[in-house]
Amino acid sequence: MQKFKRTLITTALPYANGPVHIGHLAGVYVPADIYARFKRLRGEEILFIGGSDEHGVPITIKAKKEGVTPQDIVDRYHSIIKKSFEELGISFDVYSRTTSPTHRETASDFFRTLYDKGEFIEKTSQQLYDEQAGQFLADRYVTGTCPHCGAEGAYGDQCEKCGTSLNATDLINPRSAITGNVPVLRDTKHWYLPLDKWEPRLRKWILEDHKEWKPNVYGQCKSWLDMGLQPRAVSRDLDWGIPVPVEGAEGKVLYVWFDAPIGYISNTRELLPDSWEKWWKDPETRMLHFIGKDNIVFHCIVFPAMLMAEGSYNLPDNVPANEFLNLEDDKISTSRNWAVWLHEYLEELPGKQDVLRYVLTANAPETKDNNFTWKDFQARNNSELVAILGNFVNRAMVLCHKYFDGRVPEAGEWEAIDREVMLDVDKAVERLADNLEHFHFREALKDAMDIARTGNKYLADTEPWKLIKTDEARVRTIINLALQLCANLSIAFEPFTPFMAKALREQLHLGTPSWDQLGNYALLPAGAEIAKPELLFSKIEDDVVEAQVQKLLDAKKANELNAWQPEKVREEVSFENFEKVDVRVGTVLECSKVPKADKLLQFRIDDGMGGRTIVSGIAKYYKPEDLVGKQVCFVANLAPRKLKGVESQGMILSAVNADGSLTVIGPTGPVTPGAQVG
Ligand code: MF3
Ligand code: ZN
Repeated sequence: MQKFKRTLITTALPYANGPVHIGHLAGVYVPADIYARFKRLRGEEILFIGGSDEHGVPITIKAKKEGVTPQDIVDRYHSIIKKSFEELGISFDVYSRTTSPTHRETASDFFRTLYDKGEFIEKTSQQLYDEQAGQFLADRYVTGTCPHCGAEGAYGDQCEKCGTSLNATDLINPRSAITGNVPVLRDTKHWYLPLDKWEPRLRKWILEDHKEWKPNVYGQCKSWLDMGLQPRAVSRDLDWGIPVPVEGAEGKVLYVWFDAPIGYISNTRELLPDSWEKWWKDPETRMLHFIGKDNIVFHCIVFPAMLMAEGSYNLPDNVPANEFLNLEDDKISTSRNWAVWLHEYLEELPGKQDVLRYVLTANAPETKDNNFTWKDFQARNNSELVAILGNFVNRAMVLCHKYFDGRVPEAGEWEAIDREVMLDVDKAVERLADNLEHFHFREALKDAMDIARTGNKYLADTEPWKLIKTDEARVRTIINLALQLCANLSIAFEPFTPFMAKALREQLHLGTPSWDQLGNYALLPAGAEIAKPELLFSKIEDDVVEAQVQKLLDAKKANELNAWQPEKVREEVSFENFEKVDVRVGTVLECSKVPKADKLLQFRIDDGMGGRTIVSGIAKYYKPEDLVGKQVCFVANLAPRKLKGVESQGMILSAVNADGSLTVIGPTGPVTPGAQVG
């Protein structure tokens, strides 16, 4: 392995068209932050880069929907995202945005450099154009009938019904989403980066030189490369973005996936205007991109090809992309509001940043998709953070106060069991560092937790609370070692749960931590005072997680209602046929449940003709007594049917609501029983 002097850590720039949710966190920001904190603790030179991705079509669509400008949208979400990252302790050195002047200039210059070097191909193609709006239509701005499944309202890039990727020009009966007009085809010129030109170099660089990349990343790259690379357009006809900086490019902007990764460079420049270049161009700088799996092709193929074409930049050394996190066994979806939003979590579960960081790390989708459930969240808090970690630290500190006045007792000779404990911790620390270095954060978290497990077992085995009566000297040694383990924990957990780690260091009166101190069992000098222990974690009760689950269910319900559409109107019928159905009004005389049929109600109806019995499947929605005396509409000439042994002489009419519930249909004023409806 190459020796590097410093590490540049980038995280995918989230789109500023919505807040950040736990899927983003588990896949990108929490692992990246763990790694950054680990490296800082080791005293390595690192830079941790974040920022908002503020261009692209979805932002313009959202703005249009809300009747505001795209700038309003990105201002709103950039500040929500930035603040919520800060509160979660994501320790970016810089968090900027792609609408910043520095970025505009950097991205523009980057394009210009490639343009001047002749690295682009110019091509004219036909694209859909809205003549009334006077603009070309991005794929998302065209809707029509899906050529695959026939669904209406498919978008120009994808049919959401059947999931097929589309080209806007494939749609049947295409319409502009802006004016509703039929778009026309018009010539437009764009700049393309010929990825095929870089294919041989990319093949060697990834497939031969980076066999160590995660299998999911390597595999995806290989399949892209094996399909063969094509030139890719780097500009768009759009009025939101960075203008293409060449003559004759009015109305054209840089494609969002061209400008966004350059944001990593811009943000470095913004932070370090005079020394940014060493982070990008010195071969002794190692670059890592933390991303989700949907970003792999852009970070492993497209952006590297851009960097190769430019010629003076480093390529990433690794791209530890993660898979996806599901929520309660269902795919996280922004549009369906099936998500746990970070800014809401921080507000609704104040002071529980570490719990979220811990649970997301424990369930990190490192090798395959993983799942977040509120039940697991509660269990991991209560039976791991509280019962193992918090409990051990609390016991050690309480005993120190009880027996030694809150002063670290002096250790005597180590005994065999003490040395075993130290050996176990040494091993855990070694595994921990190795796993962190290799992006195995889930395993690493277990290693850190093993230190607390070892500590708990140590106290249980040595029972200092019994020994105190007979051998105080030995208890001094035990409590000393237990406190040294607490000090070790405050360092080992710093990457994962920084708020707890800091609180613990403060309680122990420890200074600035460094990774080398791990495995040192004299971190707390004898005689030093420690504070009264304050609980590091507290139990999460059922009602807290139940409220969160309810919130998700409410969102699901609201979403279903939102998505509801009336049934398609049935086939046309002639008037004669319609007249065959004899609908009448009747008054409910009696109503009761049909025994052994939980859906059915049995009615006695005054139909003006001597009365009749009708059975109806509405028991879930009405109490029988509430219907007595009401007037209802019923089909009077339906052939009689037996339902659960009761003969039904007709059918009571009811409407099916969006949520599937039924409402009985009756007249708006009193009607003579037996009157015909028509
Ligand atoms: N905004 C993109 C997404 O959320 C990620 C951009 S990463 C960058 O999928 F490299 F382009 F910045
Ligand atoms: Zn379809």
